[in-house]
Amino acid sequence: MVSLRPSSRSSPAPRFATPATPGRPNLAGAIGRTAVLLGFETPLGPGLMPWQHDLNALATELLPDGRFAYRQVVLEVMRQQGKTVDLLSMMVARALRRAGTQIAYTAQTRLDARKRLLDSWWPRIERSKLRPYVRPRRGSGSEALVFSNGSMLGLVSGTETSGHGDSLDLGVIDEAWAQTDDHIEQAMRPAMMTRDAQLWIVSAAGTGKSTYFRGKVEDGRARAEMGLTDTGCYVGYSFADDEDPADPVTWRRRMPALGLTVTEETVRADLDLMDFAEFRRAYGCQWPEVAKPGWQVIGQDAWGAAANPQARL
Ligand SMILES: Nc1ncnc2c1ncn2[C@@H]1O[C@H](COP(=O)(O)OP(=O)(O)O)[C@@H](O)[C@H]1O
Ligand SMILES: [Mg+2]
Repeated sequence: MVSLRPSSRSSPAPRFATPATPGRPNLAGAIGRTAVLLGFETPLGPGLMPWQHDLNALATELLPDGRFAYRQVVLEVMRQQGKTVDLLSMMVARALRRAGTQIAYTAQTRLDARKRLLDSWWPRIERSKLRPYVRPRRGSGSEALVFSNGSMLGLVSGTETSGHGDSLDLGVIDEAWAQTDDHIEQAMRPAMMTRDAQLWIVSAAGTGKSTYFRGKVEDGRARAEMGLTDTGCYVGYSFADDEDPADPVTWRRRMPALGLTVTEETVRADLDLMDFAEFRRAYGCQWPEVAKPGWQVIGQDAWGAAANPQARL
């Protein structure tokens, strides 16, 4: 037997999270088994890490009638903690679970998503026991993983969910900080309307231009703090504003994959190499007003006066 929830090690809790609703069944077990099939393995054993399992359990909670409790899932976690691995396991598990499941994925750009699909995910599936059930479609514009049960994992491009016809069961916006507006969501929404569909929006914290993800995070944190367990859920891992971003004690308290798939040496090396504000964004999930103090606090009047010395303060 493979242990899917190695809980002997206590891992960091998210700083904000929608509370789990006891008694709601979920798909976390199936997603964990899919991760094992895909060959993922950590020092705790085959499959997903505890934080990935906990996220999946919340995000896929089912209502008594079998529909998903959450139509929207927002996940904010630092770089390199295993977001994309969790998404792949979740998408493949969903494709296998129900014949004909239509899934659309995107990352920073369509090209990034295409590379991931064809150069990383397909080779992994090809090496696995799932190989007989999946084939890659490489045609430019219609790239996808096509499952023998009629399910499909394809890409979103610009304003279209290409190749999906009229219906979409699962939309995934990875690296959502790179989106400067909501056009991808707008492209997916109509196709999701009549389905028991979910939209997953996943990222580390963003920059001043990341208005789309920023809005999701603020809404998600507010809902989580109110304890709302309908419509949308949010899970967010980050450094608190007043914690020392350069102190390994902070990393151990906040980074859910540290000591499993990420070492302190790696984080330390990146801290040395990266711009400090960028480190705080990518590794601390801190937004610009915290990560770049001093940049957003110039009032409009002072700015105008500096630009136009004739103006009076
Ligand atoms: N459950 C897991 N088992 C084994 N390796 C994992 C697991 N989750 C993540 N990893 C590894 O950790 C690294 C970062 O994962 P990734 O999903 O790309 O992180 P993120 O999307 O959060 O930046 C990759 O090398 C990936 O293979
Ligand atoms: Mg990723």
